[in-house]
Amino acid sequence: MSLALIVLAAGKGTRMQSDLPKVLHQIAGAPMLHHALRTGGTLSPDRTVVVAGHEAEAVSHAARAFDDTAQVVLQPEQLGTAHAVAQAAPALDGHEGDALVLYGDTPFISPETLARMAEARQSHDIVILGFEATDPGRYGRLVMNCDTLEKIVEFKDAGVRERAITFCNSGVVMAATETLMSLVDAVGNDNASGEYYLTDIVEVARARGLSATAIACDEAETLGVNSRADLAVAEEVFQSAMRRAAMETGVTLTAPGTVFFAFDTVIGRDTIVEPHVVFGPGVSVETGAHIRAFSHLEGCHVSRGAVVGPYARLRPGTELAEDVRIGNFVEIKNATLDEGAKVNHLSYIGDASVGAAANIGAGTVTCNYDGVMKHRTEIGPRAFIGSDTMLVAPVRVGAGAMTASGSVITRDVAEDALAIGRARQVEKPGLARKMFEILKMKKRKRDGGEA
Ligand code: UD1
Ligand code: MG
Repeated sequence: MSLALIVLAAGKGTRMQSDLPKVLHQIAGAPMLHHALRTGGTLSPDRTVVVAGHEAEAVSHAARAFDDTAQVVLQPEQLGTAHAVAQAAPALDGHEGDALVLYGDTPFISPETLARMAEARQSHDIVILGFEATDPGRYGRLVMNCDTLEKIVEFKDAGVRERAITFCNSGVVMAATETLMSLVDAVGNDNASGEYYLTDIVEVARARGLSATAIACDEAETLGVNSRADLAVAEEVFQSAMRRAAMETGVTLTAPGTVFFAFDTVIGRDTIVEPHVVFGPGVSVETGAHIRAFSHLEGCHVSRGAVVGPYARLRPGTELAEDVRIGNFVEIKNATLDEGAKVNHLSYIGDASVGAAANIGAGTVTCNYDGVMKHRTEIGPRAFIGSDTMLVAPVRVGAGAMTASGSVITRDVAEDALAIGRARQVEKPGLARKMFEILKMKKRKRDGGEA
């Protein structure tokens, strides 16, 4: 069946104390809005509508970055959750199918939970997602009668007996799009907050003879973010889940609590990740690789058997083939390293291709930037780049060629050639001793003069 996804993301998030709208704060390298869109995406919606208000332009930009077919509608004033859903009505005009409402600041609802909601929809007109709250606090309370959800009462409007209910509203709603839109239209704002409550659709629906139910999910899924402290908790929850999942699929994490993943990190089995490794977005690591301590990876692919670090930095566009070795204090950016290539110490390789089994000596730099433009360096297979070589791009080093240590290479080097780009060494016999004598004499003079 066709599904429309509506993500509410208009709120300011005052308690974040931020110029950035709340839903754009990140968890595991992705804005919370993307987490919500990704979860909703598991039900393959044919339309996605994001309701934006506060900093709408930035929210709209982020929504489109995730899904360029997403529609963004404006809720100029935040008059309540029902009012927010109503803003999506024109965008969903004529939509035949269901609508799922998610909050942009509630990133952990699981795909399994959404699938269970879709299942419950087969026998009820409205399905609400609830949870047993350890501390029900200010959540809306779900008033159940067996399977039937009679109504949702907001905390502010609840009496003592309703406040004692611990089954709470997560905010996630599923109903036929047409029904939902007609219900939110009928909701008023005569309540303690003067807001149009989405939760009121349940009573309106029941007055119309429609059926409503609530299904329960784990409380952890409903974790919402309202403050920086909540954001930190959400990050920790996400990281714990990623660490567990990585280990379950056969990845060794020597010190799991010190490894940080991005939302999309993929790591193959029998890969070892040592302590204090950070994965930014867009990293995939094949099986049997070894990521050593204190390395930082983003936007890169590491093949089978490669060893990275300790203290390595792989930046976006890095592609390491099988058995490549990247050692300490090496930075790689937008570069392809073919099978068995080695960059073991203190080097920068950017905008480059390095052939199979090439060896890059310590302190090598691809000088890729002239202050205005970026240029490429191409290093052939089996080339040997001597320590402290500056490769001034654009430049090519042929297969099997060698550069002498300390060279500044400004012109292409032919296959199998040795390029030396440094001043010839000269030797002055006895001059060092003379220099020392002169210098010591000067020092004595100076110190004596001062005293
Ligand atoms: C809402 C529910 C409450 C539930 C709780 C779960 C209502 C009336 N109450 O309360 O039952 O237990 O969530 O967290 O729905 N938003 C808009 N436009 C608006 C108002 C809100 O886009 O005009 C968005 C917010 O940005 C947020 C979400 O809707 O992402 C929820 O709004 P919020 O004000 O946090 O609702 P609660 O009072 O927490
Ligand atoms: Mg809230």
